[in-house]
Amino acid sequence: MKSIVVKQPNDLVIEDRPLPTPAAGEVRVRIKLAGICGSDSHIYRGHNPFAKYPRVIGHEFFGIIDAVGEGIEPSRLGQRVSVDPVISCGQCYPCSVGKPNVCTSLVVLGVHRDGGFSEYAVVPAKNAFAIPDAISDRHAVMVEPFTIAANVTGQVNPGTKDIALVYGAGPMGLTTVQVLKGVYNVSQVIVVDRIDERLTMAKKSGADWVINNREHSLAAQLAEKGIQPTLIVDAACHPSILQEAISLASPAARIVIMGFSSEPAEIIQQGITGKEISIFSSRLNAHKFPVVIDWLTQGLIDPEKLITHTFDYHHVVDAINVFEKDQQRCCKVLLTFA
Ligand code: NAI
Ligand code: MN
Ligand code: ZN
Repeated sequence: MKSIVVKQPNDLVIEDRPLPTPAAGEVRVRIKLAGICGSDSHIYRGHNPFAKYPRVIGHEFFGIIDAVGEGIEPSRLGQRVSVDPVISCGQCYPCSVGKPNVCTSLVVLGVHRDGGFSEYAVVPAKNAFAIPDAISDRHAVMVEPFTIAANVTGQVNPGTKDIALVYGAGPMGLTTVQVLKGVYNVSQVIVVDRIDERLTMAKKSGADWVINNREHSLAAQLAEKGIQPTLIVDAACHPSILQEAISLASPAARIVIMGFSSEPAEIIQQGITGKEISIFSSRLNAHKFPVVIDWLTQGLIDPEKLITHTFDYHHVVDAINVFEKDQQRCCKVLLTFA
């Protein structure tokens, strides 16, 4: 089989590898589609501290089960599945409180273990979620990015009273906007970014109001309308944003951060405690595949709005280059395998 392997930073090859056999409790998936995410490009460029090389990248993938290991029902052969890349032990403290996404022995497919940019991948059977016939392949491959938004929003119980502010109109901001509007019906979603084309995509995904904070002061725009957001999601992830969010937030607001910056951020406690603001973080997803599959079945979210490019996997380097360089036009880039 052919696999896309990052041998070491900036050295990507399409390699012939032996077809893997699923061990007990595993299934083999013949990949049909995979999505490119920022973390794939970070591993490729050598900017992911967790990555070990060589690595088959890719943690957003969809395909068909074509072999099953011992203990797995043969009836699963032929099943269309999306794969949850989060592999957890099920025993440790975080696992015991429903947070397998921060398991003490966390393994993420495509990061710590070979992932889905390959003609075939072997994965734990319980990570392969059946996709109902009514959900198309292109939607099925988008389950993982929406699980990030499901995890973010799952921390804060959004409601119709909320006025939400989302920083960043990249794939993560846009999935969050769709979930806030489509699933939770929050009264208003405001999106702030520095790129007009991305803000146009945010409107397409349901944003009520967008602000370009390269051209305008976000604080001034909100003050002019007398708005204090009650729910803020930082999907832009610059270390300076948290303090700005604290100062803009309504009393009793919730803020969710999802960035991995290692730079310190200066925070003024009074701004948090004075308004009794709750600050949450969110990493990957905790058991959110069934949740997102259900949202897709109900038609509450529309992945098609985020898919801007599709490449045959042989052109993966071109695909990653477009993904990295063309932020104006590019959101989700898919790779086709069969
Ligand atoms: P992206 O880079 O495509 O989007 C980020 C957007 O934020 C860009 O459109 C950029 O113009 C905008 N931006 C940057 N600084 C800004 C600022 N100061 N104010 C307003 N807008 C600003 O990235 P993507 O894929 O949407 O991911 C967003 C972030 O989420 C990344 O930092 C990524 O590391 C993080 N992430 C976290 C995950 C988690 O589970 N915690 C999962 C996936 C991504
Ligand atoms: Mn991803
Ligand atoms: Zn665990």
